[in-house]
Amino acid sequence: MHKIADGIYWTGAVDWNLRNFHGYSTSFGSTYNSYLIMDEKPTLIDTVKAYGFDEMLQRIKAVIDPSKIQYIVSNHTEMDHSGNIERMLEYCPHAEVVCSPKGEEHLKRHFPPAGRYGKKDWKFRVVNTGDTLSIGKRELTFFLTPMVHWPDNMVTYSASDNILFSNDAFGQHYASHERFADEVGLDVIFHEAAKYYGNIVMPYGTQVLPVLDALSTLRVDTICPSHGLIWRRGEDIKKIVSLYRRWASHETDNKVVIVYDTMWHSTEKMARRFYELINNANIPVVIMNLQDTHISDVVTEILSSKILLIGSPILNNRMLPTMASLLMYLKGLRPKKRHALTFGSYGWATVGFKELETSLTEAGFELISEGVYKKFIPDSADIEALSVMLPTIKKVLQKNNAQEN
Ligand code: FEO
Repeated sequence: MHKIADGIYWTGAVDWNLRNFHGYSTSFGSTYNSYLIMDEKPTLIDTVKAYGFDEMLQRIKAVIDPSKIQYIVSNHTEMDHSGNIERMLEYCPHAEVVCSPKGEEHLKRHFPPAGRYGKKDWKFRVVNTGDTLSIGKRELTFFLTPMVHWPDNMVTYSASDNILFSNDAFGQHYASHERFADEVGLDVIFHEAAKYYGNIVMPYGTQVLPVLDALSTLRVDTICPSHGLIWRRGEDIKKIVSLYRRWASHETDNKVVIVYDTMWHSTEKMARRFYELINNANIPVVIMNLQDTHISDVVTEILSSKILLIGSPILNNRMLPTMASLLMYLKGLRPKKRHALTFGSYGWATVGFKELETSLTEAGFELISEGVYKKFIPDSADIEALSVMLPTIKKVLQKNNAQEN
């Protein structure tokens, strides 16, 4: 039994083996968090992904007879959180489903009246920002957080406990037998929170900022997200909220990330020389080969980097498919206030580089210079000549520093 606070229990499910969450590599598995609030009207905050039902039910039964649950709060319809509402209602058929207006609409599309478990009519209680629900000695308050990261999202706040049930916000894909972030390596948890933001929330920075403003008016001692570990230490809450504000504002470090793929090591030679030049200039730099690195890990580095150097050889007049995949992904994530430089090796046609440049621009990057492209195998003079780009890279970093200060 995992007690989070007096009368509040974690009733979630851990997936130790998850390695892919619709295209996002989850190296550390994931956790789907559900929380049971024991009060005069016992309330379940979110459920878990379908296959976690038995684990969730067993955890609930360890605390209460499930038939006594009066409310199921659905902060978000995506099926990793709401996938078991219908099945749960078989155990507590009188419970009301509390959700946002869009939540009701979305849930009805996911669970049509003739549902898989025969439940025909759900009792919806639709709430808006500022609405409250008395569940006994506690009063829950709801805040709609549209597009963080679906139109239906909301968070639930218990003022009696100073706990924010934040759903996807502040979450991390991380499997653990511990429940609190401070019980495991914080560097890993903050890294996974960054990966989560970069790959899930990044397109919605404009929507995140007003949510952070609204939440800043609340006293929050504990953040209970719906993925990963719970934030309970003041310094950790301050840091993760501050990071969300920074990420949502598209602020970056003076850091460069070099991403490349290669066929016969020519583009790789260029990438490695760029790495050497930038590293020797004492500029933080990361280098990633797309043959070995998942695009969701590349995005985690892009989240904190001001400049992306991106290199591909040409295959059949095009950039390599791995690079096209990354760029298509980035077009959806829409990073802002970031710069890029393209490079690569070609044999006889350069048209694919134009496509690379155009795709980067469409993804929101500002190109800092014309691309650097070398025919077949770059010789030592070609490799040496790459150093002419270093002043441009430095200038971009300094210029943005000046603008920020
Ligand atoms: Fe974790 Fe948007 O679901």
